[in-house]
Amino acid sequence: MFTNALLPRRNQNAALPQDLFEALASLKKELNAVILAHYYQEPDIQDIADYIGDSLELSRQAASTSADVIVFAGVHFMAETAKILNPDKLVLLPDLQAGCSLADSCPPDAFAAFKAAHPGHIVVSYINCSAAIKAMSDIICTSSNAVKIVSQIPANQPIIFAPDKNLGRYVMEQTGRDLILWQGSCMVHENFSEKKIVQLKIENPDAEVIAHPECEPSVLRHACYIGSTSALLKYVQFSNAKAFIVATEPGIIHQMQKLAPHKRFIPAPPTNSCACNECPHMRLNTLEKVYLAMKNRTPEITLPEEIRLAALKPIQRMLEMS
Ligand code: 13P
Ligand code: SF4
Repeated sequence: MFTNALLPRRNQNAALPQDLFEALASLKKELNAVILAHYYQEPDIQDIADYIGDSLELSRQAASTSADVIVFAGVHFMAETAKILNPDKLVLLPDLQAGCSLADSCPPDAFAAFKAAHPGHIVVSYINCSAAIKAMSDIICTSSNAVKIVSQIPANQPIIFAPDKNLGRYVMEQTGRDLILWQGSCMVHENFSEKKIVQLKIENPDAEVIAHPECEPSVLRHACYIGSTSALLKYVQFSNAKAFIVATEPGIIHQMQKLAPHKRFIPAPPTNSCACNECPHMRLNTLEKVYLAMKNRTPEITLPEEIRLAALKPIQRMLEMS
């Protein structure tokens, strides 16, 4: 989704320019930069991005951009994918600490041993993993193309699916394939409370539950529709329902409200009363950090060429197959 809403914004921090939006626009021109943002970023960042999308759409944008600098407002594995596709471009991640609990749940050494214990299997890895895991994979997928990709693999070919067990289980149900699953999960999506969702359904009988496939089966079984962030965004525009209980990171609701302003969006609640349905990694990025990253040309994503080349192949296969 293309966006370019450069609205004036004043800030209180003396170290930052008075009008951050204007400063960002001129830095963008000066650097010939493109700002890519995931739907889980805070609304201000979504509003200044050149392009907002799900993981697949952002990878496609990164693969085709003619900009010299890619500012990736997302998490580390997303910016790393952009760097894998663009070794000669400067790729900036506003906060280098913006990781991903799912990617962290699959350490390379342990995964190498897991792979060795399953000879003859090909490895399909969800893009939410490190470059080292991608380098050990045959094909990468995202939540929007995982079913399509696994369906194209010959029926007699055994498959390891990593790292998300919930997406893996969902793909097994959709394709009828028997996958060997790495037991990783996302701290945000496994935290939604089935009990509270059922309660919300009772209180809002007109609302449909929609969910990301990283959610646990106990949540997915209540969903009228399951899909990637972009797929959920499309669904709310075309569904006849007037209200939705949204079981994914609530950052997506900013775009849902813009594209379907007459509908109601209720964030699915986490098990306790914290704000832990917000991704703590995604939310490390701020508009100020986007500005500082562009001004100082850092923090930059770098990775060893050997790993980059090995990780590039399965990403290219994904782009060809989806
Ligand atoms: P999408 O593929 O929908 O962008 O999901 C990315 C993600 O990190 C979900 O937690
Ligand atoms: Fe990773 Fe989950 Fe955050 Fe997505 S929402 S970036 S999978 S921790």
